[in-house]
Amino acid sequence: VRRWLRRDQPLLPAKFETRAPSHQTAFDVFKGRWASGLSRVLPGVVAGEDDLFVADGRPARVLERFASREGGLAGQRVLELGPLEGAHTYQLERLGAAVTAVEANVEAWLKCLIVKEQLQLRARFLLGDFVAHLEQAPDGYDLIFASGVLYHLPDPARAIAAMAGRTDRVFIWTHVHDDRAWPRSKPIVVERDGQRLTYHVRAYRERGYSRFWGGAHAAAAMLTREDLLACLARHGFTELDVHEETPDHPHGPALSLSAWKPGAA
Ligand SMILES: C[S@@+](CC[C@H](N)C(=O)[O-])C[C@H]1O[C@@H](n2cnc3c(N)ncnc32)[C@H](O)[C@@H]1O
Repeated sequence: VRRWLRRDQPLLPAKFETRAPSHQTAFDVFKGRWASGLSRVLPGVVAGEDDLFVADGRPARVLERFASREGGLAGQRVLELGPLEGAHTYQLERLGAAVTAVEANVEAWLKCLIVKEQLQLRARFLLGDFVAHLEQAPDGYDLIFASGVLYHLPDPARAIAAMAGRTDRVFIWTHVHDDRAWPRSKPIVVERDGQRLTYHVRAYRERGYSRFWGGAHAAAAMLTREDLLACLARHGFTELDVHEETPDHPHGPALSLSAWKPGAA
């Protein structure tokens, strides 16, 4: 973290851009602060390094269980939680989905708007907390796409309950708790919707630096794999495909899964 703090580029370095407009001028608004590489979709553009727009295979995994009859995700209304820089949004849209994405990090949301404009996306990017959105907005979705977000929430069971209120089908990629990976997290037993779960709580250390892409709140709670699946089942997602498990992921065990209510696949 200290290394990144030292290397942090200033936010909004210039008030005026004097070059001719280009994709690069737009991406340079957050120069040095991007996670995603853009050069495979916009050749020559310099942004971040992670190939989230093309090589990242998580959006395509959705097709294994939830493809439309017409192919891809044609005609499906997808709610994406925590889009970060819109890379998965771009992929979901290319698969045919009509995406609404909710992002709480203001800088990440502005980056999503840059991506939207530069790649001419139809997706809507909303600024705010997605749990509040799920609980307050009446909209329903054919699918909720929750990649990299559940373990960043202070109350993940509440989020799963809120998701169940708006959709019958979810795709989740998440880390799950493991004592070896997270020895300093604090186990707290909670009761949610008549179910006892253990929240493994950790406080974030530095949330202000440019490469903080974690939760919107000061602390987050991680579930074990067992509690995650039990919580999904409790809220009606009793049908399940685990697509991939990476027990040796450098940040702790992770898995991707599709889950749905009976008859909804
Ligand atoms: C680790 S990143 C994952 C980004 C992307 N979905 C992926 O899988 O690569 C977590 C993202 O979720 C956002 N986020 C976390 N908690 C949120 C919340 N309660 N409401 C909205 N966005 C949230 C963060 O700001 C960040 O952009």
